[in-house]
Amino acid sequence: MSMRLGFFGTGYAGLVTSVGLAEVGHTVTAIDKDPDIVARLSDGTPTIHEPGLPELLIANLEAGRLRFTTQAEDAVSMSDIIFLCVGTPSRADGRADLSQVEEVARTIAPLLDDYKLIVEKSTVPARTAYWIDWTIRRLAGSECEFDVASNPEFLREGSAVRDFLQPDRIIIGADTERARSLLLDLYEPSFHCPIVMTSVTTAELIKHVANTFLASKISFINMVSDLCEELGVDVATVAKGIGLDPRIGSHFLHAGLGFGGSCLPKDLSALMKVAEDHGVDVSLLKEVERINTTRVDRLLAKVERALWVMRNKVIAVLGVAFKADTDDVRGAPSLAVVPRLHRAGAVLRVYDPAAVRNLERLYPPDDRLTYMESALEAVRDAHALVILTDWDEFRSLDFDRVRSLMRTPIIVDGRNLFEPAEMQATGFEYYSLGRGEATFRTERQRVRI
Ligand code: UGA
Repeated sequence: MSMRLGFFGTGYAGLVTSVGLAEVGHTVTAIDKDPDIVARLSDGTPTIHEPGLPELLIANLEAGRLRFTTQAEDAVSMSDIIFLCVGTPSRADGRADLSQVEEVARTIAPLLDDYKLIVEKSTVPARTAYWIDWTIRRLAGSECEFDVASNPEFLREGSAVRDFLQPDRIIIGADTERARSLLLDLYEPSFHCPIVMTSVTTAELIKHVANTFLASKISFINMVSDLCEELGVDVATVAKGIGLDPRIGSHFLHAGLGFGGSCLPKDLSALMKVAEDHGVDVSLLKEVERINTTRVDRLLAKVERALWVMRNKVIAVLGVAFKADTDDVRGAPSLAVVPRLHRAGAVLRVYDPAAVRNLERLYPPDDRLTYMESALEAVRDAHALVILTDWDEFRSLDFDRVRSLMRTPIIVDGRNLFEPAEMQATGFEYYSLGRGEATFRTERQRVRI
């Protein structure tokens, strides 16, 4: 059964979810306040870099199942279910800023004519649905008919379309039978994965806890990575050795520069605040956060160890996105590494396959900071190459050519993309994170030189 859906917000979650639900046959109206965004999307041009999205966007616009508007009235009156997909960024104190969520609740309230199901897709702290309900009832009167449910999204940037169309689970948090059955009718016919039915508050909490657990896993392996370096073993082998135990699992055990992006850091700090507000001890999570913030220091110490004096050293920086396959630089290590190397006096040549323009807006070019059009251009005459993002394009570079272009063949790899022995055999002095044996070999090689 095709349903009529309204979406407030066309960011990552909003755009991918609205396009995805149109793709499985529903009629979708998505609202954004920004007329330029609406014009671009209506034209079939995605506002984000996401594999598979352009094709689905165009197909569903052409099929007439998807449209974009700035007019909230249209979307509310023409929808059975209204999804809230606006941003919930961090406030200065680490709590989630819910002002956009409140604004949508205030916008929807006077437009409610008959029953609507209002669904939180944005990641919000537990009990946010209560406040949405309270806000709408205050403004629309107690006789207006609606429910507020929670249906968190677990898609990852870079694989968001696939994650949405082939989810590993769907969480439906609903406190009334009407809300529960509407959301089941929406998902059950098209998605064949476990569907977990919970209360609204439980669903809200599941999303925060999922991201916090993923963040904890990464900080854990990064702590182990530091120990591996001291003991002369490779963290990737330790991760493989523990990850084959299904109770541990092999995903999210990749050591390196830590977790960035617009979700894991924000949701970790928001959950800590929720817990603190309820008197729950969060020292474990504080340590997860602290370990994460020290990753960039560790990388920069290696750059300094490799180059000694940084002033006027030419450094090629490959990768500014917070991870591969996205143009997103929010929470990316590059936001810390680029200004710190710049302050140290280095001459930076920066390249990323998709995200350069987004970094350029934050750090405009100058006589010691240039944004390049290719990796090979960036490494020309460089004293060192620093890798910050795990793009496949970097894995498949011709490293004989890279070596011949560089002034000194030094690589500091924050993502552990290569086998240390292979890079050394190609003639590089190669530094990575948590691979003790390799570092020791590099040290010995240097002594011989
Ligand atoms: C994350 C979650 O994985 C999604 O399930 C969730 O829906 C999303 O947040 C959200 O809340 O909207 P995302 O931020 O796109 O997705 O990125 P991840 O793939 O989770 O990566 C986060 C960070 O961890 C990246 O900086 C990545 O480089 C880093 N990472 C990931 C590691 O350092 N090691 C790993 O083993 C895995």
